Amino acid sequence: MKRKIVVATTNTGKIAELSAMLDADVQWLSLADFEGIQEVPEDGATFAENARKKALGYAAATRCWAIADDSGLCVDALDGAPGVHSARFSGPKIEGEQRGLIDHRNIEKLLDLMKDVPSENRTARFICSICLAKPDEVLAETEGKCQGMIAKEEIGENGFGYDPVFFVESLGKTLGQASSEEKNKISHRGNAIRNLQPILEKLQLPTNE
Ligand code: IMP
Repeated sequence: MKRKIVVATTNTGKIAELSAMLDADVQWLSLADFEGIQEVPEDGATFAENARKKALGYAAATRCWAIADDSGLCVDALDGAPGVHSARFSGPKIEGEQRGLIDHRNIEKLLDLMKDVPSENRTARFICSICLAKPDEVLAETEGKCQGMIAKEEIGENGFGYDPVFFVESLGKTLGQASSEEKNKISHRGNAIRNLQPILEKLQLPTNE
């Protein structure tokens, strides 16, 4: 009997990433495996709050254990902005607008706000919070960070979101220039997932069948 954990997303990339990085004898499901699941809004004040809300909400809706994450970019010179508003920093999604265009608008706004910030003050970090919950109980919460500097222009075409303006010193390049393997080793999401591994090993995994 395989144990089942729902990854609270319909993004198959995130499920592939989790199942590849977490060594656990479970069957990973996505929200697409369930019908009529209502979306849990990401309206919390922190990444941890959003991850907790989604994990508890989707665990209750599916009656399974659920893993949810929330992530974003925090820039020191902007007092931690865009933070939990990273995805919609430059305004709400326009009907039919492609993700790449939204990312580009967000980067433009960021670079504009930072045009007078000198190199030494362009420090920033990506943060990712992950929560594992059963229907009425949080089982584990982890956080991962990735430290970097905001570049003065977009460099590289890999990744998504703010990757082309996020320079990582240990790589000597932006995440927009990094391969997905290079990024996974040091990324906030990778670190949050790696922090979950020892906790998951200690938990009694559920059997749903
Ligand atoms: P979510 O946690 O997938 O909802 O991500 C929120 C937003 O944060 C994304 O839309 C991106 O703008 C930004 N973000 C989160 N993780 C990354 C990353 O690894 N690279 C670039 N941008 C990211």
